[in-house]
Amino acid sequence: MIEPSPAPGSGRTDPQLANEEGRRAHVTCQNFSFYYGDNHAVKSVTLDFPSYQVTAIIGPSGCGKSTMLRSINRMNDLIPGGRTSGRLLFDGQEVYGPRLDVVTLRRRIGMVFQKPNPFPKSIFNNIAYGRRLHESPGKGELQATVERSLQRAGLWDEVKDRLDDNALSLSGGQQQRLCIARALAVDPEVLLMDEPTSALDPRATARIEDLIAELRGRYSIIIVTHNMQQAARVSDFTAFLYEGNLIEYGPTARMFTQPREKRTEDYMTGRFG
Ligand SMILES: Nc1ncnc2c1ncn2[C@@H]1O[C@H](COP(=O)(O)OP(=O)(O)OP(=O)(O)O)[C@@H](O)[C@H]1O
Ligand SMILES: [Mg+2]
Repeated sequence: MIEPSPAPGSGRTDPQLANEEGRRAHVTCQNFSFYYGDNHAVKSVTLDFPSYQVTAIIGPSGCGKSTMLRSINRMNDLIPGGRTSGRLLFDGQEVYGPRLDVVTLRRRIGMVFQKPNPFPKSIFNNIAYGRRLHESPGKGELQATVERSLQRAGLWDEVKDRLDDNALSLSGGQQQRLCIARALAVDPEVLLMDEPTSALDPRATARIEDLIAELRGRYSIIIVTHNMQQAARVSDFTAFLYEGNLIEYGPTARMFTQPREKRTEDYMTGRFG
């Protein structure tokens, strides 16, 4: 397992390792804050989300996990009174800079929500939607995209004979894999997942966790979860948030076996949260 790249300004730079693609952080926060009016929900977080790894964000309800996640692809933009300070960089670009194109940002950073939210359209059109939005692909190209995305999301075999069926006729677990396929169809680099299995039964949850393991290495995945076992099973790195502050961050194996902060340990052992 590789260590995340050092926080900017930490002075801990190994030039050889820094040159390795895998160490380049896709998403970097530098003293990043998010406010809902007077509510300082994310407090000056400095953190690198390493490329092509799975990072779990954990912490008690209301600690700012979803706010942090939604800040990365600017899903908080429309919230009245919402504002940010500090820096958030995606692929070296200022996410909140004046030159950033939000539509492109959201193509490159896909998102999957807690409740599966397929469009009330056919399975095929759910997947084709994003590509049609961004370009004008031919029919064959669209078909290839639909098949590839469903394959990647582990759903192809179950739906290949019913692509014209309404997506809402799928089971909850299948709908969530469809939403993942929809996100993958536009070739994102980062996948944000906000408690993607909390509405699913254990079997459907296990399928999503297997899928995350398969997607790892191809996409940078950031997943919010309330489930400690899930964080331990699927993630390479874990960030623990508490009341908007980043309390501790590190390789998941180390965080779970030797947390450095008492609050991390207390949370992980179920003493609060
Ligand atoms: N749309 C909103 N408008 C105003 N305040 C909000 C909004 N969304 C979240 N907040 C506030 O921001 C803080 C962080 O909320 P957030 O939803 O990010 O927490 P969370 O860690 O995802 O919680 P949970 O585990 O319950 O999903 C809370 O105080 C919450 O009340
Ligand atoms: Mg949340």
